[in-house]
Amino acid sequence: MATHEPLLSVEGLHVSYGTKEVLHGIDYSISEREVVAVLGANGSGKSTSLNTISGFVAPSAGKIVFEGTDITELPAHKIFRHGVIQVSQSRDLFPELTVEHNLRLGATIRNRGEEEEHLERVFEYFPRLSQRRRQLARTLSGGEQQMVAIGRAVMAKPRLLLLDEPSSGLAPQFINEIGTIIQALKDDGATMLMVEQNLALALQGRRPLHHFARRRRQRRRVRKIIGRQSRGNCPHHISLTGWSNSRRENGDFHEGLGVA
Ligand SMILES: Nc1ncnc2c1ncn2[C@@H]1O[C@H](COP(=O)(O)OP(=O)(O)OP(=O)(O)O)[C@@H](O)[C@H]1O
Ligand SMILES: [Mg+2]
Repeated sequence: MATHEPLLSVEGLHVSYGTKEVLHGIDYSISEREVVAVLGANGSGKSTSLNTISGFVAPSAGKIVFEGTDITELPAHKIFRHGVIQVSQSRDLFPELTVEHNLRLGATIRNRGEEEEHLERVFEYFPRLSQRRRQLARTLSGGEQQMVAIGRAVMAKPRLLLLDEPSSGLAPQFINEIGTIIQALKDDGATMLMVEQNLALALQGRRPLHHFARRRRQRRRVRKIIGRQSRGNCPHHISLTGWSNSRRENGDFHEGLGVA
């Protein structure tokens, strides 16, 4: 793959559930080592967007290219093997298995032989999990469960990590811990696409960011919120860009921002 090519590109993505269209032509691309955060209203299609990239939902039109390979039609398990690893909004742990067992299930043919090394790495990221390695997943707090879900994805050696609302339902202390981990993964060179409603978490990349919104009034509103929330953790500049032409017709999936 030539270095200037994006790691992931999504072109003209349309997704429907039955007759109800949820995504109306989304275009974006993510470069290697970028962290991109997507914001949007509840029900606007953020999870659908991630689920389509990872092959759990089939698009009705459009193209998804990952590392130069067209993955639009591939089944989820093959997309997983390419290293596109998703942490779903529901976390999907095995409640009756221990923390360590759940983590080990993330190790796959992608990193067989490196399992112990990756497990140690996860425990370095999450010392709290190391202390609880023999504890059943169902007995963990919500924040700890989120850590296992992210840790399990790290075990799979992701080329692209998709995080669906990692801060959802967590107390501020856990949000900070998750933020620290996301920063550590970023520093270690991870590429991430995350849905995140917590602006402080979404903006922690301290990098130039672009945001998109359908109408000028919404753009102004989002810019104001971003300016307020990112004070002290401020990106170098904020520039307004159109996410895509098709976004203009996209009444629902209208707001988002990318941390470059
Ligand atoms: N499997 C499904 N079958 C039918 N409709 C679905 C399905 N999954 C999602 N939807 C609908 O598609 C729309 C977008 O859902 P999605 O979960 O992608 O939204 P979201 O932006 O992630 O919302 P939230 O912020 O609440 O997580 C919603 O109206 C939802 O009801
Ligand atoms: Mg969602």
